[in-house]
Amino acid sequence: MSLIILKIGGSVITEKSSLSKAREAEINRISNEVASFKKDSDSQLILVHGAGSFGHPQAMKYRLNEGFDAKGAYLIHNSVKVLNSKVLESLNNAGANALPVHPLSSCLLENGKIIDFQVGQIKVMIEKGIIPVLHGDVVMDRIKGASVLSGDRIIPHLAIALNASQIGAGSDVDGVLDDKDAVIKKITHFSFVDMRKNIKGSGSTDVTGGMLGKVSELLELANKGISSRIFNASRKGIVSSFLYGEDVGTLISDK
Ligand SMILES: Nc1ncnc2c1ncn2[C@@H]1O[C@H](COP(=O)(O)OP(=O)(O)OP(=O)(O)O)[C@@H](O)[C@H]1O
Ligand SMILES: [Mg+2]
Repeated sequence: MSLIILKIGGSVITEKSSLSKAREAEINRISNEVASFKKDSDSQLILVHGAGSFGHPQAMKYRLNEGFDAKGAYLIHNSVKVLNSKVLESLNNAGANALPVHPLSSCLLENGKIIDFQVGQIKVMIEKGIIPVLHGDVVMDRIKGASVLSGDRIIPHLAIALNASQIGAGSDVDGVLDDKDAVIKKITHFSFVDMRKNIKGSGSTDVTGGMLGKVSELLELANKGISSRIFNASRKGIVSSFLYGEDVGTLISDK
């Protein structure tokens, strides 16, 4: 059975320029698109959401990259969990069965790199038709004590570990844009060399590299032969189009 991994950016479901502000209407709209696809299809689905204004400003404040901060780790995790609960409630209200999976409790890092990720519970959930909902989180790190693990890094890891066939990251832009703000249809390892100068971080606070971080993570996945898409989840119907396998946004591919 085919497995889809969908990331919804914090730029879509939160107001990234505010502090801990969710966009409830956007969460509900996307939940409805996901739930109606799930009713219609027997594909398995994993959802990952970004932290947006529930994680990036907090991670910046407690400077996890500069040193361990136990209180900061607690406060960041607690904040992203609030957003995760809102997503879970919305999905279940829309008629999808969804359960949370917190990376803090299932994952271990070494200098920011994933060295252990428990997927046993995720496998049972997807077999039972439940959507596991992961999120960008603070995660224990054997070297740094604690680090931020982005949703963008979770997707390639799970895609490989669970052999996903369709991978997508929805953000607040129509795809990766060129110097004239036109959507780049495809990015490969080769074309990235020329395009890189136009791909930047985020317009808001983003501790995980914004669009450049996202493209870099997905290019690494493409190098392993797994393609993915970056598209606009803020536009009505695009999440649904992606789920049904349509050609949306920018394709990140190895050739
Ligand atoms: N070449 C580019 N094409 C498209 N967006 C770009 C580009 N360069 C920089 N960006 C910025 O990247 C932003 C998207 O990345 P950002 O990390 O803010 O969103 P996200 O990953 O959806 O959110 P989160 O990290 O909270 O999950 C866009 O809103 C845009 O400002
Ligand atoms: Mg981001």
